[in-house]
Amino acid sequence: MAFFGRTLEEYAQFFALEVAALKGKSVLDVAAGPASFTSELCKRGVDAVAVDPLYGCRSEALEQHVQIDYRAMFSQMRAKPELFRFRFFESFDEAEESRRTAAQRFLADYAAHFVHNRYVGGALPQLPFLDRAFDVVLCAHFLFVYAKQFDLPFHVEACRELVRVSRDDVRIHPLVGTGGRRYAHLKELRATLAADGITSEIVKVDYEVFAGATEMLVLRRAVA
Ligand SMILES: C[S@@+](CC[C@H](N)C(=O)[O-])C[C@H]1O[C@@H](n2cnc3c(N)ncnc32)[C@H](O)[C@@H]1O
Repeated sequence: MAFFGRTLEEYAQFFALEVAALKGKSVLDVAAGPASFTSELCKRGVDAVAVDPLYGCRSEALEQHVQIDYRAMFSQMRAKPELFRFRFFESFDEAEESRRTAAQRFLADYAAHFVHNRYVGGALPQLPFLDRAFDVVLCAHFLFVYAKQFDLPFHVEACRELVRVSRDDVRIHPLVGTGGRRYAHLKELRATLAADGITSEIVKVDYEVFAGATEMLVLRRAVA
């Protein structure tokens, strides 16, 4: 799985977030990779934490992951232009520049703030946080993108875990894999979560980079 990340600007778009409204809230980014979302939010005074299985590695090791994975990702993307849409970015060059900027911001912040618990090592389906520890919990470009690696029971457990650590809402994006098809077990997943007292809503977002990735899933406890 690629260690690949995006900026706050991109997150705000695919999660339909009003960044100013996050002030005073606590935010968790799950499967955060080398995204600069957390570092940029913290710079704006928002209480944000990121979690990823690779956190805990030395920053030099993460920089190597970035170098190798970014080269591979952009060569794969350029080889299959039919899988992408240029609405948010105008070109692959623009996307590459933005995502390399995200990784540089992340690497600088990680080196300075890993020891302050801004970056926490952990993996779904078990996160190292207390129940309702964060107001808003986000998970981007992980769960349904890698649907072939993870089965429905994993997705159910992962969604329950995201809700467990949230006080308010959980947002997951996208609902499609790189082929542009919606996650095949979405209906079953939502029915299982509903039986557990978790409501889910599919919300359109004004964003598309992977073809068809124009929605997010919002989860909430039915009874607060
Ligand atoms: C493609 S990156 C997404 C980064 C970021 N969320 C974004 O949208 O820019 C996927 C990340 O998922 C992480 N990952 C892999 N297995 C995981 C797991 N079981 N739980 C949480 N994160 C995981 C990887 O280390 C990788 O950094």
